[in-house]
Amino acid sequence: MKKIVLTGAAGNLGKILRGPLAAMCDELVSTDIEDNVPDLAENERFVQADLADMTQIGPVLEDAEMVVHFGAIVDELPFEQMWGPNFVGSYNIWQAGKEHGVRRIVYASSIHAMGMYPKTVAIDTEMPHRPDTYYGLAKCFTEDLGRMFWEKEGIESVHLRIYSATSRPGNARALGSWLSADDLVQLVSRAIDTPVVGFTVVYGVSNNDRSPVDNSAAAHLGYRPKDNAEVYAPEILAETGPVDLSDPGVTCHGGPFASATLGVSPMALMGIPEDD
Ligand SMILES: NC(=O)c1ccc[n+]([C@@H]2O[C@H](COP(=O)([O-])OP(=O)(O)OC[C@H]3O[C@@H](n4cnc5c(N)ncnc54)[C@H](O)[C@@H]3O)[C@@H](O)[C@H]2O)c1
Repeated sequence: MKKIVLTGAAGNLGKILRGPLAAMCDELVSTDIEDNVPDLAENERFVQADLADMTQIGPVLEDAEMVVHFGAIVDELPFEQMWGPNFVGSYNIWQAGKEHGVRRIVYASSIHAMGMYPKTVAIDTEMPHRPDTYYGLAKCFTEDLGRMFWEKEGIESVHLRIYSATSRPGNARALGSWLSADDLVQLVSRAIDTPVVGFTVVYGVSNNDRSPVDNSAAAHLGYRPKDNAEVYAPEILAETGPVDLSDPGVTCHGGPFASATLGVSPMALMGIPEDD
């Protein structure tokens, strides 16, 4: 592979992906609205760009074969604040991708595209969207954008509905939803090196005994997660008290986002740092 562009390179998941992506291509261009990233690989270049501004992000995609699009606001904020980075930003990536002949886009979607499904319903990749927030709505929009650009323009895309990508599972919900760093790297690698993906949706979840998702329609990716949150179960369940079954944050896949007021950050209200 000649050139890969990684957006959101300064973020938590971008940091994990930069090294493995650099090893998969001749040139990695890492980009973010932040002004730099530390410890560039020999074949890595950093470009500061705002996703919401086509004049900034568009030229970054010149000569790129693939884009790994992880840049976004990762929280629930008023719609007007999500619009630029999370909606227009996605449009800019696909539109610039078309102009520059990009072959494939790997997108960090989210469980929040499906967050209002009850936890007792096992969700697959064919079911209709049920977003829990404007944040989730932007993921739905981008998945549809990807499908349209595949069907109308022939740009392939893989949409990774990442659940909880944290260093270790932090609560009872994460016993099902956890995605380890190694499994994230495997998932992104398969999204890049599988010869034909067309338009694919896949859940980003580790090999958890309590995984609530069905990835069988994405079997062609060959994603075979290795880590299992169950090893943390005794410790986590011992610390878990009774739950409020009237709270959608408890009963729905979206967790705290499912009970959040639209436009109001559940992370800020509940002191949740990174568990998406
Ligand atoms: N971490 C999780 O558990 C999780 C779960 C589901 C989905 N995701 C998705 O994965 C991706 C990465 O998540 P993360 O945990 O690394 O989040 P993060 O907030 O650490 O990283 C996001 C990056 O995007 C950048 N960014 C924000 N606005 C931008 C703009 N206008 N232009 C350019 N860059 C901009 C930020 O500066 C940041 O470096 C996001 O798209 C997120 O929605 C993450």
